[in-house]
Amino acid sequence: MKVLMLNGGWRAEGNSDFMLDHMAEVLAEEGIETEVFQIGPAPVRDCMGCNKCSETGRCVFTDDGVDAFLDKAEEADGFVFATPVYYAHPSGRILSFLDRAFYAAKRNVFYGKPGCAVSVARRSGTTATMDVMNKYFTISGMPVASSFYWNASHGFTPEDLMRDEEGMRTLRMLARDLAWLLKCIEAGKAAGIELPVPESGNMTHFIMR
Ligand SMILES: Cc1cc2nc3c(=O)[nH]c(=O)nc-3n(C[C@H](O)[C@H](O)[C@H](O)COP(=O)(O)O)c2cc1C
Repeated sequence: MKVLMLNGGWRAEGNSDFMLDHMAEVLAEEGIETEVFQIGPAPVRDCMGCNKCSETGRCVFTDDGVDAFLDKAEEADGFVFATPVYYAHPSGRILSFLDRAFYAAKRNVFYGKPGCAVSVARRSGTTATMDVMNKYFTISGMPVASSFYWNASHGFTPEDLMRDEEGMRTLRMLARDLAWLLKCIEAGKAAGIELPVPESGNMTHFIMR
């Protein structure tokens, strides 16, 4: 089984990446492979709602990693998204990236696969950030892994994060919960338990014509 991790900070070795590495160690102990996908420092386009992706399952903007991420996501069994807190919300780059990834993705990319989001801040805004991040999972039929505090750590440097004992423990428990969910899902598949087939129907948006 493989978990695809997304670093929503611009630094490949920043604090968001440090949290992912810490969780990857636990997942490795549980026999689960991981890969970190770096969004990196280059500009990330926002979604402009052109809807071309509804035909292709991929974004029309091909040069900033979203389509490459979707190729990997299709093969992954679970997800961890990490972001720094900027003004008490996720980084703009991870929001632009995930808006396009989730809008473009065909159902098989994310549906039924567990995920969780982690955030890092110097001081505050982590729970508001988590609320935003969890919305990607809960509109996509994805089970959400959880821990014993809200998924966050605090600091300016990885050394600060290591000193945040409770934060690190929270991340380790989150990784164990994600591993447990993945194993339950695999056992369910082996026992013949199928994903529910989503109902289809018209989209309604409160405007009666
Ligand atoms: C534009 C900007 C806004 C920030 N806003 C917050 C904030 O609202 N709350 C907070 O505690 N830290 C805030 N920070 C600090 C970062 O969240 C913190 O340094 C984090 O560890 C950076 O993670 P990274 O190394 O993955 O980029 C902000 C940093 C920047 C650059």
